[in-house]
Amino acid sequence: MSIAEKDRQDNVVDEEFKFDPAKVKKFKTFVAALAVIGGNYGDEGKGKFIDYKSDEWKSKGYKVLSIRGQGSGNAGHTVSVNGVKSHFHYLTSAGLSADAMLLGAGMLIDPIRFLKESLQLPPDKRKTIFISSRAAIVTDVERAMDGWCEYELYKSGKEKIGTTGSGVGPGSGNRGYRFHMTFQDALNCKDAADFRVAYLKNPLFPEEVKDVLTKEYAEELWDAIQQLNLIDSVAFISDLRAEGNWAVLLEVSQAIGLDPLFGHSGHNVTSTPTTDIGGATGAGLTMQDFTEKPVIMVKAYTSKVGGGKHVSLMSPEEQHIADMIDRIVGERGVTTGRRRLLGWLDAVLTRYSIALTGGVLSVNCMDVIVEVAKVVDRIPICVAYRNIKTREITYDYPYNVADYEPVFEYVDVAGKNDKQIIKDYIEAIELYTGQKIFSYGVGPDRNDFRLREDAFVD
Ligand code: IMP
Ligand code: MG
Repeated sequence: MSIAEKDRQDNVVDEEFKFDPAKVKKFKTFVAALAVIGGNYGDEGKGKFIDYKSDEWKSKGYKVLSIRGQGSGNAGHTVSVNGVKSHFHYLTSAGLSADAMLLGAGMLIDPIRFLKESLQLPPDKRKTIFISSRAAIVTDVERAMDGWCEYELYKSGKEKIGTTGSGVGPGSGNRGYRFHMTFQDALNCKDAADFRVAYLKNPLFPEEVKDVLTKEYAEELWDAIQQLNLIDSVAFISDLRAEGNWAVLLEVSQAIGLDPLFGHSGHNVTSTPTTDIGGATGAGLTMQDFTEKPVIMVKAYTSKVGGGKHVSLMSPEEQHIADMIDRIVGERGVTTGRRRLLGWLDAVLTRYSIALTGGVLSVNCMDVIVEVAKVVDRIPICVAYRNIKTREITYDYPYNVADYEPVFEYVDVAGKNDKQIIKDYIEAIELYTGQKIFSYGVGPDRNDFRLREDAFVD
């Protein structure tokens, strides 16, 4: 007997089934869609641009879907909720103003930490946050692995990665080996005990990290998973497309300099893609969806946390400037609290970000440049790299960054007023990157945001 015949005999197949063409979700693009990416080594402050864009779309009557498709709790941004500052790691910066938020399949999510974070939001807002059931779970087990890898690197005399310790590297590794567990896999388990057994079947986990997943911890994770709004994100996105009035803001965490494929040599990069297309893939968006060029965020200077070479790093003699910037901006990693290393704007890396995404630039912290101009006569911009051994100059961002030193050009600021400084600095960035600056920021507030067209108007 064929399977079909057996099914019929068992009455599994509904003989009455009639295909309904109206149920076919025809592909329709969104009314608007745009990706925001980091142009240097992260922490460029995407939030302000995202606030602006989400306001603009809302004023047009669009509903805004805020979406992420990569990264994990390694991301970090500070958001004001009812006047209280909160640190978000999973939630997007547009999450508060958006009509819906989706964390896509490419993400790695700790269900307990995610829940804790989302509890900072009002209950009706929480109902609008969805997670792809295909996203992978990370737990204290992967975080323990993260620490263990760093320790092993240290013991072997290699430079540490300088990870945020959020387990995203080992979690991505699990996925590469296909030993990861998605939220749907978890839902397929019977109960917490079953979930624990399934989770520990991962042959990559050494015995000592397996101990981290105690029965109590497994129960806590299990309970948290039951409370998430887990969905089929592809069907969800198709429904929103069909509804017709949705605009999409894709927030890509981390930055191009940390991309696992295109970041610099060595291992001081993150483990999920940081390009617009990489983020879109994990979010379940298509290239057809994007109606605008991606926006590449940079600061007017370049900061970096974690290990690896920072070519345009400020010199020891310039440390007082780094200290001053730290006082103004608070240059500390939101996830780790580590002080960021500050350097002059790296136009080489910024050009590389443009080459990989075709994006336009948005420059934050122009107010900081005005402050720096009070203590120096000229401000350096790193416009090329010189190989330390061969003395060869390159305009392209090299794989072996550790072999290079910065080549600076300078923007004269002595005796100029604030407006002139901003104008000259912005024009210099456009010259050295060959790309238009779309907008810039002159302070931490959402009102401190300027579009390039009205940039220099009184
Ligand atoms: P991981 O992503 O935690 O594995 O860390 C890998 C590298 O990326 C380290 O150098 C981290 O400091 C850096 N990194 C990860 N996430 C961020 C971020 O959101 N901003 C800045 N640096 C980050
Ligand atoms: Mg950050």
